[in-house]
Amino acid sequence: MTTNAIPKTNHAKLKSWVDEVASLCKPARIHWCDGSQAEADALLDEMIANGTGIKLNQEKRPGCYLFRSDTRDVARVEKSTFICSAKKEDAGPTNNWADPVEMRAKLKKLFDGAMAGRTLYVIPFSMGPVGSPLAQYGVEISDSPYVVVNMRIMARIGQPVLDALGEDGFFVPALHSVGAPLAPGAKDVAWPCNPESTHIVHFPEDRSIWSFGSGYGGNALLGKKCLALRIASVLARDEGWLAEHMLILGVESPNGEKTYVSAAFPSACGKTNFAMLIPPKELNGWKVTTIGDDIAWLKADPDARQLRAINPEAGFFGVAPGTSAKTNPNALASCSRDTIFTNVALTDDGDVWWEGLTDAPPAHLIDWKGNEWQPGQLDKDGKPVLAAHPNSRFTAPARNCPCIDKDWENPAGVPISAFVYGGRRMSEIPLVFQSISWNHGVYLGATLSSEQTAAAEGKVGSLRRDPMAMLPFCGYHMGDYFGHHIKIGKKISNPPKIFHVNWFRKSAEGKFLWPGFGDNARILKWIVERVKGIAAAKETPIGFVPSKEDITWDGLNFSQEQWDAVTAINRDTLRKQTEEQADFFATFGDRLPQEIADERTRLINTL
Ligand code: GTP
Ligand code: SPV
Ligand code: MN
Repeated sequence: MTTNAIPKTNHAKLKSWVDEVASLCKPARIHWCDGSQAEADALLDEMIANGTGIKLNQEKRPGCYLFRSDTRDVARVEKSTFICSAKKEDAGPTNNWADPVEMRAKLKKLFDGAMAGRTLYVIPFSMGPVGSPLAQYGVEISDSPYVVVNMRIMARIGQPVLDALGEDGFFVPALHSVGAPLAPGAKDVAWPCNPESTHIVHFPEDRSIWSFGSGYGGNALLGKKCLALRIASVLARDEGWLAEHMLILGVESPNGEKTYVSAAFPSACGKTNFAMLIPPKELNGWKVTTIGDDIAWLKADPDARQLRAINPEAGFFGVAPGTSAKTNPNALASCSRDTIFTNVALTDDGDVWWEGLTDAPPAHLIDWKGNEWQPGQLDKDGKPVLAAHPNSRFTAPARNCPCIDKDWENPAGVPISAFVYGGRRMSEIPLVFQSISWNHGVYLGATLSSEQTAAAEGKVGSLRRDPMAMLPFCGYHMGDYFGHHIKIGKKISNPPKIFHVNWFRKSAEGKFLWPGFGDNARILKWIVERVKGIAAAKETPIGFVPSKEDITWDGLNFSQEQWDAVTAINRDTLRKQTEEQADFFATFGDRLPQEIADERTRLINTL
């Protein structure tokens, strides 16, 4: 076995872990990643040469590449994701659990020889700015060069992390293999993976991660959902902070005052778009800046007055379809250079395309499967053939974003004044309302529901409960997680005000009732003015709601009738739905905090 260079580290535990993994996985080579541009370029060149990746037109998209996955490896696989706590009840009713001893034995078999013929990459990474008191370090071992170049965008990797770890710093060991050993002389496939044996496994007590069989997104970039949410949520529970599936944005009002807001929407429900929105020009002087688009780590400030948040990531792994110059120009600008595209379509001039990028598609494309594609093409069932996969993504450096906040890498984070919860709900749920208290807000988060998207396997469109948008990401018992939120609210003298939004309500004809995107700034403005105690609201059973005149409408024709349609609530339906939460709450047994149960009773009574 050859190693690229003697790593510049004296971390004995790290070195012995690498040795241990190498003797289990039996790779052909070991490569310690330094995180340099030269290293990334060499890996990308290698992947282009062997047909794994495609170099895009460098005049149009400098530093950009396209990868096509195996058609069976296109999203997170929740059914193969496990929380292996020592006790089953600590994983709770919303997680797949397996006995850690049995799971370790199973994984040892899967990983035995799994890297044969491949290179084992050692990727030291930091979630959060290196040296920040809120940062956490991990080391991912992977046999995928695609993972290396993506992790380099999504996290801070390489030598600075080894330096920060020193001789005995704590790191989360995160082992990843695509699970496709290469026999001597065998030709590799473009996207090796092993869908039959995929396992995404977390051991919360010893803070370790094992991922086998998938090369895609959250399954493989282990700093992201595995460390920064599943493991971090456990650390946060134990240490008194929060790890949330939240974007973080800053709102600047015309007088220059800055308010920071974080928002949890389930996967593919609008976090990236909300984080980078451009307010309509008629909202004179209102500006939005981005701190993060997917994950927030929040800690009480030293005098326990407010929560402060950092974005643990360094890039955006954003949904491509629907991203356009009209909907999200800042995301488009972010992926104008140094970006990796996965499963989008390729144009004849070496650029990328996806559904929604332009009104009319180009006359000819190579689709995400590598096939010839023309507009209007139908499959054998008469359904339109998509050029890009619905969960196709761009991996873009956050520093590319034109509206990135000047404090986005501030090691102390930014103070958060509001939490927003939202789902994709075609009916019943009104555009916006504010909770009457912290506990009521926690109840709103706990009962969040949303229609399933393509970000994970499963039937798109079916309604599911997704508490705080954390259903697939909470590393412990969800009832305890609700309790942890209740506790945080008690600990802090000025906790964020909590709001609920729904951009996705539809008419009977299936048309969105709300324009969304930049116009969401109108609602964000109301939220910020509520925080400041300026904006008016009515108190209703569901919470505080705006009247039409409480929202700024300059530049948009929106009738009272449209407003009524997008904000209507039906008390009978709502009461019925609240009653139906009984079964859901019962699954948490005595780990459901009394405060949450009380909020439900109060709501039923007022309805
Ligand atoms: P993850 O990265 O999976 O966690 O997703 P996300 O929450 O960041 O979702 P994203 O912002 O990428 O949006 C997903 C899809 O929703 C895209 O196709 C968007 O175009 C669409 N979308 C976002 N905001 C709005 C909105 O306000 N209205 C409507 N109608 N669609 C929206
Ligand atoms: C999500 O599914 O919520 C994502 C994409 O942000 S992934 O990184 O694949 O989890
Ligand atoms: Mn996400």
